[in-house]
Amino acid sequence: MKNLIAGNWKMNPNSKKEAQELFDAVKKGIKDVASEVVICPPDLFLSSLKGSALGAQNIFWEEKGAFTGEISAVMLKDLGVEYVIIGHSERRKYFGETDETVNKKIKKALEVGLKIIFCVGETAEEREQGETQEVLQRQIQQGLKDVVDIDNINVAYEPVWAIGTGNNCSVEETKESIDFIRKFVKPETIIIYGGSVKSENSGAYIKQAGANGLLVGGASLDAEEFLKIVKSAE
Ligand code: 13P
Repeated sequence: MKNLIAGNWKMNPNSKKEAQELFDAVKKGIKDVASEVVICPPDLFLSSLKGSALGAQNIFWEEKGAFTGEISAVMLKDLGVEYVIIGHSERRKYFGETDETVNKKIKKALEVGLKIIFCVGETAEEREQGETQEVLQRQIQQGLKDVVDIDNINVAYEPVWAIGTGNNCSVEETKESIDFIRKFVKPETIIIYGGSVKSENSGAYIKQAGANGLLVGGASLDAEEFLKIVKSAE
């Protein structure tokens, strides 16, 4: 099984020029790596970035029509985009995404032939209340409700409290959650970790926690650091 290392640029960088420079630097550095490396820039940069696997950060579940401001899975597929992140905690938190809308998006992405990076993870409060597994189970079961073929689904375990905080999840806790998530998917399903991943901690998630890759936010905006992370998974 190939490791999957995805860089989620979120709403960065500010210009097409910077996006191109960052992308080119990453592309150059991943020529001979064994992992599948996927860059997920803001949608409007997707058409100009070429020569390496791309992912979008969101989609809408309808195919076309009067949905101002939205982008469909079909449009992304047509551009040559291979992956889409669905259910990221920032979408759940700031844009009202629910397990139900996540489920609709997953179904549409699968129908169109996009590979999915399906994000799940508990908040700090949920972890303190001992609800981590309950939350993960709910997000997975509802997100994958009525989904029969999960071959194109990759699951990203992203504890919300670990995202952008520098407070990355311990290897032990990550392993526990990954082992738990494994019960709801196939033995060969790729399960990756995200949340304050840096080159100093990245290798341990793969070598010790059993993650099949990483979903990298902030550190994916620095080509040198991102490439170190990619190398740590080799
Ligand atoms: P950070 O790596 O910045 O914590 O972000 C993680 C993330 O949300 C990736 O999707």
